[in-house]
Amino acid sequence: MAKIKKIYLDYAATTPVDSRVVKAMLPYFSEKFGNTMSLHSFGQEVKEVLEESREVVADLIGAKPSEIFFTSSATESNNLALKGVIEANRKRGHHIIISSIEHPCVRESATWLESQGFEITRLKVDKYGLVNPRDVEKAIRKDTILVSVIHASNEIGTIEPIGEIGKICRDKKIYFHTDAAQSFGKIPIDVNKLNIDLLTASSQKMYGPKGAGCLFVREGVKISPILHGGGHESGLRSSTVNIPAIVGFSEAVKICKKLMKTESQRITKLRDKLIKGVLVKIPDSHLNGHPAKRLPNNANFWFEFIEGESIIIQLDLLGVAASTGSACSSAKLEPSHILLAIGLKPQEAHGSLRLSLGRWTKESDINYVLKILPKIIKKLREISPFKHGYK
Ligand SMILES: Cc1ncc(COP(=O)(O)O)c(C=O)c1O
Repeated sequence: MAKIKKIYLDYAATTPVDSRVVKAMLPYFSEKFGNTMSLHSFGQEVKEVLEESREVVADLIGAKPSEIFFTSSATESNNLALKGVIEANRKRGHHIIISSIEHPCVRESATWLESQGFEITRLKVDKYGLVNPRDVEKAIRKDTILVSVIHASNEIGTIEPIGEIGKICRDKKIYFHTDAAQSFGKIPIDVNKLNIDLLTASSQKMYGPKGAGCLFVREGVKISPILHGGGHESGLRSSTVNIPAIVGFSEAVKICKKLMKTESQRITKLRDKLIKGVLVKIPDSHLNGHPAKRLPNNANFWFEFIEGESIIIQLDLLGVAASTGSACSSAKLEPSHILLAIGLKPQEAHGSLRLSLGRWTKESDINYVLKILPKIIKKLREISPFKHGYK
């Protein structure tokens, strides 16, 4: 049997670790393994490396090193941002504003806070998934503590007007948090120009290892820890610091910074070829998300009359890894809340396909997808119970 090509087009779910990152991490497992809190030389040498890594990560977004707090993941950073700010500012109010297209770790944190007596406003988005900054302004109340709007959607790739939202929050003296897990290292971010008070990032989405993330917290923002313990990370995030993962994260940041411009131009070109090819070759296909204000690596479609899961299985049989819905919700049968929020009907949202590109995507990979996908869709439509339309 001929060997099938293996093509990974699910970089939004997670990225492979760059070999330069692996090399940088290796000494920190067995040679330089100390605990950053130890006073002896084993501890002190890694403490120095921890602070260098903090400088590298801070530099990418124009932050001060003292404003970067390492965590284990974007999920942890988002939980800390929402719960930590709310806890520290209880006296100021009880109201939080989020968008209706947040990642589950923001959405579920907000729902939990709601169960604890806080009030949540969930802002609607337009058909492209864009939050209207005027809606943020209108939703702000006297007792609003925090606004949290994702920077770029993990699912449909739309980039939100976070600069405008940040400005509104700054003028109204309300904290502004953004989940930048998908954009960090891929597009430029300046926390000062964008008036961001808190920002979440994740190493595993930008060619670093799993197990590292960070929360940027602007100096002066009141925030309480959600993990209590030995007082690591200036008391905001106790637990022995995961030095190999943080070293890998900072190496990944260095590489992303160096490659950002050329990499995003190259990937955007491939993405546009993919989007155009799919929309031209496949009848009744639609692009989800904004045509221009979107992440360089994201292409998300919905195809009439078929199920996304069946497309994923067929693509996988032919060697292509993709996703339907978001990586985290694709194991569930419910339609994605993001696709519903942009106005798709549940049966339409079920026919979605996300192809996310990355550092090792080649033009031949895109050509291959453009060759096999139209045939897959045609075959699935022939056997679809919805082939004559939805009832
Ligand atoms: C926008 C966004 N936020 C948060 C997360 C959670 O990231 P992690 O799994 O690193 O906690 C993801 C992962 O898919 C994401 O895309």
